[in-house]
Amino acid sequence: MQIAIDGPASAGKSTVAKIIAQQLNFIYIDTGAMYRAATVIAMRRNLDLDDEDAIVAALNEAGISFKIIDGQQHVLLGQEDVTTEIRTPEVSANVSQVSALPKIREKLVALQRELAGQNNVIMDGRDIGTTVLPDAELKIFLVASARSRAQRRVLDLQQRGIKSDKTVEEIEADIAARDYKDSHREISPLKKADDAIEVDTTEMGIEEVVETIIKLIKEKS
Ligand code: DC
Repeated sequence: MQIAIDGPASAGKSTVAKIIAQQLNFIYIDTGAMYRAATVIAMRRNLDLDDEDAIVAALNEAGISFKIIDGQQHVLLGQEDVTTEIRTPEVSANVSQVSALPKIREKLVALQRELAGQNNVIMDGRDIGTTVLPDAELKIFLVASARSRAQRRVLDLQQRGIKSDKTVEEIEADIAARDYKDSHREISPLKKADDAIEVDTTEMGIEEVVETIIKLIKEKS
């Protein structure tokens, strides 16, 4: 079974997807982490963030892979674990630009489909229901107000031990800018698939979102 969870930044996709994967024994695939890893390698090598050939070559050379350590998905570039680095505000600020590049998307979408392969998966991102897994049995489009997403992002950064001097208002503006770029790019923009079910999590706790989605999964299986 394939479950697609799409939606804007910080709507709670990865948090709920991880819990559901654990409860149902599905494999969780965080596709945003792949675009973030591509951004990390481009920034480290001072590549032009529009130079798709150079970034694809750097990704191929380093090799991107995933490993589950203590139940958590880790992202590796070569042997190096970049799980923490991919979440820094600097990477967040640049990832929309890198993820809009057609050749980067082509490479990472192929990897995502390969990982989805024969397994029961729950995959989160922006274009999973529309492009990566168009035949997914269940498609969820998770939304929440920009303010509540900014508040969640602040908590998330604190919990991950990532320092940021930004106010909630500044983070909200960053999130709104990223939503705009993700929704207006030419290839596979952030968009609710016609057959996706929209869930607004603004006023919902994590437990409630998880319960809502598990109920929908049980109806499909
Ligand atoms: O989910 P996230 O915030 O970690 O995603 C980081 C960026 O990657 C997001 O701004 C847009 C891009 N992305 C994408 O274009 N397609 C996906 N399937 C997942 C993420």
